[in-house]
Amino acid sequence: MLAIIGGSGLTRLSTLAIAHREVVRTPYGDPSSALLFGQIGGRDAVFLARHGHGHTIPPHRVNYRANIWALRNKGARAVLAVASVGGIRACDAGDLVLPHQLIDYTSGRQTTFFDSGEGAVVHVDFTHPYSPELRECCLDAARIAGIALRDGGVYGAVNGPRLETVAEIDRLERDGATMVGMTGMPEAALAREAGLAYAAICVVVNHAAGRGDSTHEVSMDGISQMLETAMDKVRTVLDHVVPRA
Ligand code: HPA
Repeated sequence: MLAIIGGSGLTRLSTLAIAHREVVRTPYGDPSSALLFGQIGGRDAVFLARHGHGHTIPPHRVNYRANIWALRNKGARAVLAVASVGGIRACDAGDLVLPHQLIDYTSGRQTTFFDSGEGAVVHVDFTHPYSPELRECCLDAARIAGIALRDGGVYGAVNGPRLETVAEIDRLERDGATMVGMTGMPEAALAREAGLAYAAICVVVNHAAGRGDSTHEVSMDGISQMLETAMDKVRTVLDHVVPRA
């Protein structure tokens, strides 16, 4: 079963025919929201709102471990994350991008399931953080839906909740990041530890600080407007991904 983690602007999935909702408790605390189980295009799927149904949990306070544990424990085998990002290079506001790599700049988050201090030390391979199969499935779905989805990009994960300075974005760009967001890590790494295939559809909702029309500041009104229109495209892609996943 495919799990969809919705980010800002995607706290519900109108096309999910909800069969039941479940509040899950985990050894790591409470997930961000109840899990919504249902079907899209006749296939089972489960949806989780990363920031809570009322969008009240900021990126640095999301309980990523509880979210991934709950989804895995309730039968998910793959996770498709939806996340908004600022565009640094090779993308424009309104674009949908499917990153192929990431760089983690976050700190102070619970980043692993393997920290009990008991048993052998575990290291997981993370050479390619996003599942090639799930990425391919997203690209096929977007093609069939007639929605442009850019293949490839490097996601720079930052703590937030504040946005970046121009110098910080310059550094990310020098490092090779093409987009910046606040939730991509440790979500992707925890999914890998849990044995779940993981991919992310990133919605570019603004130019990152100092880029394009964000030369002087990043407009919050612009972000809200962009979120609304872009999420319609995301929903259409998801309708086609679920039956293929
Ligand atoms: N920076 C970090 N995270 C973001 C941005 C940004 O400009 N836009 C949306 N999420």
